[in-house]
Amino acid sequence: MAHESDRLLPNAESGVPRRAFKSRACEFAAVLFLLLLLAAGVVRITLRDDRRALRELCTSRACVLTATELIQAMNETADPCDDFYEFSTGGWRAAHPIPADAGLFGVGQWVAAQNDEVVRRILARPVDDRTLSRMDQMNLAMLKTHYDACMDTRTLDLAGGQHLLDSLKELYGALQGAHNLTDALVWLHLRDMPALFAMDITGDPGYAPTTATPTLVPGELGVPDASYLDDADARELYRTQLVRAVHELRQVHADARESVADAVLEWEHGLARLQPDAVSLADPNATYNPMSVRELQTLAPAIDWARYLHAMSPHVQPHKVIVASPTYLAALSEHVASADPLTVRAYLYWTVVRTMGLYLGPSVPLAQPARALRNYAAGVPADAPEDRAATCLAALNGALGYMTGRFFVQAAMPPGTKEAVEELVEHIRQAFYDRLAQLAWLDDATRARARAKAAAITVKVGYPTHPDTTSADAVHAWYAALPVVPSYYQNEIDGRLFRVKRAWSYLGGELNPELLGDLMTTEVNAEYSADHNEMAFPAGLLQRPYFDASWPQYLQYGALGTTAGHELSHAFDPSGRQFDAHGLLRDWWTPATSAQFEARQQCIAAQYGNYTWPDGRGGAAHVQSALTLGEDVADAGGLAQSYEAWQKLVRNGSMDTLRRNRLLPGLQHYTQEQLFFLAYGVAWARNIRTGEALKRLHTDPHSPTKYRVNGALANFPPFAKAFGCRAGHDAMARAPAERCEIW
Ligand SMILES: *[C@@H]1O[C@H](CO)[C@@H](O)[C@H](O)[C@H]1NC(C)=O
Ligand SMILES: *[C@@H]1O[C@H](CO)[C@@H](O)[C@H](O)[C@H]1NC(C)=O
Ligand SMILES: *[C@@H]1O[C@H](CO)[C@@H](O)[C@H](O)[C@H]1NC(C)=O
Ligand SMILES: *[C@@H]1O[C@H](CO)[C@@H](O)[C@H](O)[C@H]1NC(C)=O
Ligand SMILES: *[C@@H]1O[C@H](CO)[C@@H](O)[C@H](O)[C@H]1NC(C)=O
Ligand SMILES: [Zn+2]
Repeated sequence: MAHESDRLLPNAESGVPRRAFKSRACEFAAVLFLLLLLAAGVVRITLRDDRRALRELCTSRACVLTATELIQAMNETADPCDDFYEFSTGGWRAAHPIPADAGLFGVGQWVAAQNDEVVRRILARPVDDRTLSRMDQMNLAMLKTHYDACMDTRTLDLAGGQHLLDSLKELYGALQGAHNLTDALVWLHLRDMPALFAMDITGDPGYAPTTATPTLVPGELGVPDASYLDDADARELYRTQLVRAVHELRQVHADARESVADAVLEWEHGLARLQPDAVSLADPNATYNPMSVRELQTLAPAIDWARYLHAMSPHVQPHKVIVASPTYLAALSEHVASADPLTVRAYLYWTVVRTMGLYLGPSVPLAQPARALRNYAAGVPADAPEDRAATCLAALNGALGYMTGRFFVQAAMPPGTKEAVEELVEHIRQAFYDRLAQLAWLDDATRARARAKAAAITVKVGYPTHPDTTSADAVHAWYAALPVVPSYYQNEIDGRLFRVKRAWSYLGGELNPELLGDLMTTEVNAEYSADHNEMAFPAGLLQRPYFDASWPQYLQYGALGTTAGHELSHAFDPSGRQFDAHGLLRDWWTPATSAQFEARQQCIAAQYGNYTWPDGRGGAAHVQSALTLGEDVADAGGLAQSYEAWQKLVRNGSMDTLRRNRLLPGLQHYTQEQLFFLAYGVAWARNIRTGEALKRLHTDPHSPTKYRVNGALANFPPFAKAFGCRAGHDAMARAPAERCEIW
């Protein structure tokens, strides 16, 4: 950092105590010192005013509330230089146990629960509410019907497994004709059950990033990751649920149930072994394999591709399909062709049971295999009581997210939020330019292209514009083809059909550029998408403790600013950097700078690969840093850019800016710098069960939140300086030779 000497507070310059409690004597000495300087005419009046402004407290409601929340979140017994995650989140984690039916609970889930409350209050309004337009009354009625059907577990339990049996009957019908396998896959894929493979509609990054194109990726397994089938405990649990499902279906003679289950398990295990791992699937260059339908047919003859594509999209036929892994597809075809057809059929039925069982009544026997598998993967006890309202609100957002989003924005996105967040993101972009100019490892050609790419990133804040969230009619029209009835299972099936058909409807044209990427309005998340070169920050994220328009700036930048920087950095992470400013997969790096980048990413990979998580069996599992590298790189960049953006604002020195950086009541012994890092740490507070943590080590491209905080900060000298951590000595301050820096 070139501007380390520009500190906010004078006391932060000299030897700062670990936690900078300022004694009265210190304050007195500082005032005396200033007075002496003043007397000597050294300090200009403005500077004195600046400093005074920075010592004042912010006593607005938002500041007092947030100060209380931060105090409660911290564990001041811990040493911030030893484990900043514990220091900034220990109190929060002690106060927020994981709900019985969840694998984890963190600040993200806490905010999601607050957002759920907002939606619940909306659902409690009468449908004939006079303050609503007629169209919004209809919208509200639709939301209520969906939610109430899900909440009515009595009716769901009374219906038993009949809905699921009806689905299986339809699948059975599809399996009767001459094109049995192809037709069965169409039936499943139209209902968003990606058996064997999935065909997603994406852009074509090699040729036309915004043109709707089918992309073929390996399908989902019944376990979170292939490795589960290699693990004796996980495999045994999976087998038990398979046997239970076969038993419930009563189609197989009692003597043969176990052997059918074993055959299915063995076949799926074989399928799992064929799948490329998550790391290879994340390589955009290796997974870009465009093929004609004819080439597809030669590669994987077990499926009738023309028939499949025609069924998925009756009106427009694609010229090409992008295949993520041709090796997998060829092997899959072989695996199907060489299998006992009865096993393949049983596997497809099982796919429906393990997916749709979750939408039956919670007490229905046929629902239990799906519930047991979900709970196992989350590390949740099999008999954990369900938070039904949370389940139903999640289902509602999944099915009608832009409609709940309309009401949510009215209730929870105050006017001015969009502009404030857009301004913050612009400051992050400017800080990226500034840092880019200082990074010696880039040559000028690559630097200029990186700048142009950053300049081209589109920013979406709050809600989609198509469907137009501000229009009751537009939102209603978006869902015109989706029937909502008083049956939870039927609504789920219809919602899936609706989403899949909507996606395929773009074929032959451009994708809709006016959504929030893949995100829903109420979602607590943010996103960068490389093929659109855009980032999105939904209304659901723009809530405390991520953002509040009336907050001091160090909190805004410590929490949301670092997230915005994180998303921006994805444009330049190991995968995102392979795309250009237009979202095309194109190498714009000079070889020398590319090599420099790789050396830097290797530093981060080595650092995070050393982190472990207890495996619950007395050992420890390592973070797979090859999988988390892109996110780790983004975390490092986001932190540095947001800090730079904020420091730049404060250096401006206008009284208004200084007023917007006043200290917090009860936390006035912490400097603005320290509070910036505190806001960063708190945003990642999370409790997690062992099972869920291990699942994520295999499947989640993000490192455990503990390391997102400690790993990123330990590389960042301004953090060490703010807390007086000793480089190379304290865990939170890596020695200069070991420090990783990238963006
Ligand atoms: C706070 O941190 C200390 C030191 O790491 C630890 O011993 C203590 O259990 C923590 N307290 C809470 C409430 O988590
Ligand atoms: C599909 O039909 C063919 C021909 O009737 C048959 O040989 C094959 O076993 C069937 N496959 C499945 C998965 O049902
Ligand atoms: C992607 O692959 C192509 C062809 O194999 C190669 O020319 C190009 O340099 C690769 N791009 C990157 C960023 O590795
Ligand atoms: C990984 O951990 C080992 C043992 O603690 C240490 O010697 C090594 O320097 C660490 N590597 C990195 C990159 O931090
Ligand atoms: C300083 O802040 C003021 C008020 O916010 C703004 O108008 C001005 O452009 C800023 N100057 C710089 C150099 O950022
Ligand atoms: Zn990310």
